[in-house]
Amino acid sequence: MSLLTVNDLCVRFDTLDGDVCAVNGLNFHLDAGETLAIVGESGSGKSQTAFSIMGLLARNGRAEGSVQFDGREILNLPEPELNHIRADQISMIFQDPMTSLNPFMKVSQQLTEVLRHHKGLSQKDALDEAIRMLDAVRIPEARNRIHMYPHEFSGGMRQRVMIAMALLLRPRLLIADEPTTALDVTVQAQIMTLLADLQKEFGTAIMLITHDLGVVAGACERTLVMYGGRVMEYGDTEAVFDAPSHPYTQGLLKAIPRLDQASDELLTIPGNPPNMLDMPVGCPFQPRCPHANDHCAQVMPELTAQNSLNRQRACHFEPEALR
Ligand SMILES: Nc1ncnc2c1ncn2[C@@H]1O[C@H](COP(=O)(O)OP(=O)(O)OP(=O)(O)O)[C@@H](O)[C@H]1O
Ligand SMILES: [Mg+2]
Repeated sequence: MSLLTVNDLCVRFDTLDGDVCAVNGLNFHLDAGETLAIVGESGSGKSQTAFSIMGLLARNGRAEGSVQFDGREILNLPEPELNHIRADQISMIFQDPMTSLNPFMKVSQQLTEVLRHHKGLSQKDALDEAIRMLDAVRIPEARNRIHMYPHEFSGGMRQRVMIAMALLLRPRLLIADEPTTALDVTVQAQIMTLLADLQKEFGTAIMLITHDLGVVAGACERTLVMYGGRVMEYGDTEAVFDAPSHPYTQGLLKAIPRLDQASDELLTIPGNPPNMLDMPVGCPFQPRCPHANDHCAQVMPELTAQNSLNRQRACHFEPEALR
C-alpha cells in the first residue's frame, strides 16, 4: 500500500489582487521507503504542496482535495492531531537550517529535548541516541561536537545536524525542501549521497523538493515535474532523464550544467513562469513551449498514463513528435 497518496490537491491563497492558485489538481503517490523528487522552477507550487501536506500553509491559504498518509486522511486535520503526525510520522527539513535550529541552544540540548519529550528517554539515553544520530549523518567527532552551538558548524555540517534532528524520531516520511540550495556544489553532492544512504539505512521515504534537476539523478527513484501548480511529467527518474516526454522537462534538462559542455552553451528556458493570478486557459507551459499551437492555448492537456513506461505526462503531442 502506498504511504502517501495525494489526490486532486488544490492550494489557493486569498490575496488583495484575487485568488492565487498555487497548486492545481495535483496527483501522486509515494510508497514506503521510496524516494520522490518534485522538480520545477521557482513558483511552480513545490513548497506549497509540502506545506499543505504538513498543515503549514499561510493563514490566507486553503487546501482542498485529499492527502492520505498510511491510509488515513490528513489534509486539514485539526492542529493537535497534526502535531502528533508531525512529531514522529512525517518530518520536514528546510533550505535554511537556521529556520529549524535555535541559535542560542547547544545542538546537544536541541536534540535531546526532542527525544526526552517524545520518547521519554533519560538525559543520558537521549544524549547517547543523539550522538548516534550525528554519527549516522557523518558528523566527525560527534561526541565532542554535539556540545557546540549551531553557528560553530559550517553550512554543510549544520544541514547534517538538521537532517539528524528530522530523523531522530524515525519518521516514515522525510520531506526535504531544497535542502542543498544554499550549499556549494561539492557539499550539495555529499548531502545528496547522505540522504540516499539514510533512506537505505532507516527505510525512510523521502520527498525531495528542488528546482535543480541536476541533483536528482542517482538520488531519487521517481521524479515529478511541476509547472504552474500542475504535474507536467511523472515517472521513473531514469526514464525522465533518458527520454523526457514533456517540452518543459526537456527544457529543464538542457539547462543542467554539464562538464562536457562549455558554460556559455547552457540553455535556459526563454520566458517567465506564469502569473498565478491569471493562469493561461490551456496548457500553462504553452506561452514558453517551442512546440505549442492554437490547441495548446485553448485546451489544458490531461495527465495521461503511458503504462509501458510507468509514466504520466500532460502534453497534447505524442512523445515522438517532440524529438
Ligand atoms: N501566502 C501566500 N499568499 C499568496 N500567494 C502565495 C503565498 N504563498 C505562496 N504563494 C504563491 O504560491 C505560488 C507557489 O509557491 P511555492 O512556494 O510553492 O513555490 P516553489 O515551487 O516552492 O518555488 P521556490 O523554488 O521559489 O521555492 C507562488 O506563486 C507564490 O507566490
Ligand atoms: Mg519553495
